[in-house]
Amino acid sequence: MKALSIPDVLAEVAVLVRPHFGKGRPADYIPELADVPGGKFGMAVRTVAGEEHVIGDADEPFSAQSITKVFSLGLALNRMGDEVWTRVGKEPSGTPFNHLALLEAERGVPRNPFINAGALAVTDMLLDWTADPAALVRDFAGFLSDQALVIDEAVAASELAHAHQNRAIANLMRGHGTITHDPLDVVAAYCRQCALSMSCRQMSRAFLPLAAGGFSPVAQETIFPDRLTRRLNALLMTCGIYDSVGSFAYRVGLPAKSGVGGGIVAVVPGKAVVTVWSPELDRFGTSVVGTAALEAFAQLTSCSVL
Ligand code: DON
Repeated sequence: MKALSIPDVLAEVAVLVRPHFGKGRPADYIPELADVPGGKFGMAVRTVAGEEHVIGDADEPFSAQSITKVFSLGLALNRMGDEVWTRVGKEPSGTPFNHLALLEAERGVPRNPFINAGALAVTDMLLDWTADPAALVRDFAGFLSDQALVIDEAVAASELAHAHQNRAIANLMRGHGTITHDPLDVVAAYCRQCALSMSCRQMSRAFLPLAAGGFSPVAQETIFPDRLTRRLNALLMTCGIYDSVGSFAYRVGLPAKSGVGGGIVAVVPGKAVVTVWSPELDRFGTSVVGTAALEAFAQLTSCSVL
């Protein structure tokens, strides 16, 4: 049988995901995100070799949210190396991304850098370096995608006005010394970072170093050492989808990061990055249609790493 081309695969995926619309709900705990039309769907594939293929709403910016945690972690690891791991773990948490009880039981040390606690600790580390970590993340992602990116200040303000749980997490960590700056400053910087707007096409370009041994074919620069690239992918594989990471690995079999804006970025090591966006979420905060799309994509292309 002749292998399908990437455009053929994307067209087929768009058909296969149709029955999954209406099963989830856009995030409403950030009020500004509740109004994003649930029927949106975009997908962008960027290969290491330089091919780029998109379908649907792939050029419409969406709220990157937790996907930005990969950029902030990459920046912190590049600057601080293994010192990052003195304040954050690297184990899956088995609990929701905004969970508090486990953090208290484990004396304020977050299980991993992708749950909110871990990402807040990473933002705290970036505050040692810059007064504006969100701008640092925006400019890093912009450099990697070769585009000028913007933070959606309305989304940032909307989240900050409702960030009671994240403030509790930051306060708990301040009490334990995991973070060193004012918890309110850390949460404000984190909410602005999460409010970065990016399209699927931009996201696939920005994540390309994770598929290309640390080199960005877009920026024409080595971004991460190869060893760190492998480690970032290991963290995505084990912690990128929170407490449904096991079932995601079972269905898709690729390192990936989700965000409550409805985006999911998946890395096919050595080959490509695939980003999908569709705002309706499952109860774990992951795009329902996005997961189905990546599952179909991995099956049709046999690109799963597992
Ligand atoms: O802190 C929050 O709740 C959001 N800014 C980000 C959460 C998120 O994207 C979880 N991912 N699925």
